Amino acid sequence: MEDDFDSILSKLDRKKIERLEKDSEIYKIMARVFDTSTLLTIYRLINRGVFDVFYGNISAGKEANVYCALDKNGNYVAAKIYRIATSDFKNMRRYLVGDTRFKSVPVDRRGVVYTWASREFKNLQQAYQAGVPVPRPIDHEKNVLAMEFIGEDGIPYPLLKDVRPENPGETFDILIDSVKKLYQIAGLIHSDLSEYNVMLTPEPVIIDLSMGTDTKNPLAEKLLMRDIQNLVRYFRKLGLRTPEPSDIFAEIVK
Ligand SMILES: Nc1ncnc2c1ncn2[C@@H]1O[C@H](COP(=O)(O)OP(=O)(O)OP(=O)(O)O)[C@@H](O)[C@H]1O
Ligand SMILES: [Mg+2]
Repeated sequence: MEDDFDSILSKLDRKKIERLEKDSEIYKIMARVFDTSTLLTIYRLINRGVFDVFYGNISAGKEANVYCALDKNGNYVAAKIYRIATSDFKNMRRYLVGDTRFKSVPVDRRGVVYTWASREFKNLQQAYQAGVPVPRPIDHEKNVLAMEFIGEDGIPYPLLKDVRPENPGETFDILIDSVKKLYQIAGLIHSDLSEYNVMLTPEPVIIDLSMGTDTKNPLAEKLLMRDIQNLVRYFRKLGLRTPEPSDIFAEIVK
C-alpha cells in the first residue's frame, strides 16, 4: 500500500517536472515567435489567472498560433495569439472594412491585428449567446484570445476534414441550423466555413470566427452563399443527398 502511494507520488513529481521542462521549452519558442508587447499581453493574462501554464502548441496558421493552456484552476483553455510582424494586415484590413460594426478601421499593422482579434472575440460572444456551437469565449486583450478548449486531456478534437462524421446527415443538419442561427439570431455570417473550421466532438463545433462579419456587409449574400456551398460540396462528397444551396440560402435569409 505504502509502495503504491510512493510510486504515485514519484509519478506525479515526474509529470510536474516533465511539464515544467516542456513549459520552459514552449516559453523559449514563444519568446522567439512573438514581439515584446505580445509577451506582455500574455503575461497580463497569466496574472489575471486566465492562463496559468502553456501546455502545447496546437497549430501555427497563416496569421495566428493556437496553444493549449491551463487556467489557474487547472482547466484546459485554448489561446489564439495573432502574430503582429508576420500577419498579412493589408488583407485583414480589406476584410474588416465591410463590417458595419467597425466605424473606422485602423490603418497601421498593430491596430489592424488588434481589431481583427477583437472582432473574432466579439463574434464568438454573439455566436455563443445565440446558441451556436462555438468555443465559449473567455477573455481577450489586444491580439490574444482565450476560449474554451475543444478537446480532451489537452488533445484537441479532430477537424471535420480529417474524420468522417458518424452520422453525416445529422452533422450536416446541425451545421446548417448553426449557419441559420448565426445569421438570424446573431446577425453574423461566418465567411470562412468549411471542413477546415469545424471540429467534431463528435458533435460539430464551429471555430475560427475571425472572418465573421455582420449581415449588413455589402458582401453578405456572397459570403453566406459561399459558406453554404462549401458545406454542401463537402457533404455531397461524403455521399449525402443535400438540398440545393440556393434553397438553403432562401430558407436562411427569408
Ligand atoms: N477552441 C479550440 N480548442 C481546441 N483546439 C482549437 C481551438 N480553436 C482552434 N483550435 C485548433 O487550432 C487550429 C487553428 O485554429 P483556427 O482555425 O482558429 O486558426 P487558423 O486557421 O490558424 O487561423 P488563421 O487562418 O486566422 O491564422 C484548428 O484547426 C484547431 O485544430
Ligand atoms: Mg482555421
